[in-house]
Amino acid sequence: MDRILVTGGTGYIGSHTVVELQQAGYEVVIIDNLSNSNRDVVDGIERITGVRPAFVEGDCTDIGTLRKLFADYPGIKGIINFAASKAVGESVHKPILYYRNNLNTLLNLLDLMEPNGVKGIVFSSSCTVYGEPDENPVTEESPIKKATSPYGNTKQISEEIITDVINSGARFKSVILRYFNPVGAHPSAEIGELPNGVPQNLIPYLTQTAIGIRKELSVFGDDYNTPDGSCIRDYINVVDLAKAHVAAVERMLQDKSEDKIEIFNLGTGNGVSVLQLINVFESATGVKVPHKIVGRRDGDIEKVWADPERANKVLGWKATSSLEDTMRSAWNWQLKLRERGVM
Ligand code: WQD
Repeated sequence: MDRILVTGGTGYIGSHTVVELQQAGYEVVIIDNLSNSNRDVVDGIERITGVRPAFVEGDCTDIGTLRKLFADYPGIKGIINFAASKAVGESVHKPILYYRNNLNTLLNLLDLMEPNGVKGIVFSSSCTVYGEPDENPVTEESPIKKATSPYGNTKQISEEIITDVINSGARFKSVILRYFNPVGAHPSAEIGELPNGVPQNLIPYLTQTAIGIRKELSVFGDDYNTPDGSCIRDYINVVDLAKAHVAAVERMLQDKSEDKIEIFNLGTGNGVSVLQLINVFESATGVKVPHKIVGRRDGDIEKVWADPERANKVLGWKATSSLEDTMRSAWNWQLKLRERGVM
């Protein structure tokens, strides 16, 4: 049973990926500093899979912590690196925190891979590297645009760091996964997206409005050059996204590729507007979402969605969940949080 280290494994995408890794037969070790998640996510994972992953509370920016982890858990074959600060808006106000956390984490992991015989690293990147694309859908060859936030810049710089380290002759591989917009929750409603404080992302704010925690959802602009005027994104079910990570680990550990670095867009290939998504949620759940149109949000991209053909063909992976089922999973998760008195 290959052992995989998942950094940021109690986070939203990380926890869903741990579940899929375990169900694919991998042994998982999680390290997380709990800065944007909590340890009872480990219980949720165990309730789903029946297997409790090893959990280390620690900060990946401290190389001593990671050295100890590799000593305590020998034989780690692969790493999936989710551990990063990821709020676009916050990054504009706290650039040093973002560069130090996101880049030092990656540098420490890369430094420790060869001495510990790790064969590959899957890196969590983002469609923000494309900025406002000249045309949609975007492929992996679409031009990288100057980042519009320190967060986005850390993703671009991280991809360059990985490329330089591997081109320097490092004896390991990497798969870079560029996510579009992850949404939804595990169908069991045992794990899901649980942002601290007021949600920045659309779906947690939408479900908190639907359940009455928030009074009204503000739609940031309906004067864009899109059919209904609101921004368009490629909303991908988080479980589908997690499954792509298992495919990436398998491809890397089974040496299926000649290339030492591979990049994949992970999206559905469908662009959906904010107003469309509200309608899908309402029709899928029967729950109304009070909302109003307000001004545009600084830094928002008008429209971006993926061409996922390379991931479909090369990874053998495809997003299969319907947006209706995905919206229902997000709503069921919000209901479970209320049932547990979490919010
Ligand atoms: C989606 C759409 C908003 C909230 C960011 C990061 C990306 C990834 C996902 C980490 C936009 C609109 C939102 C609200 C709204 N993060 N919106 N009212 O900005 O596409 O992507 O989060 O990996 O890297 O860039 O996601 O969910 O914030 O916004 O109208 O209250 O919803 O304007 O059009 P975004 P989002």
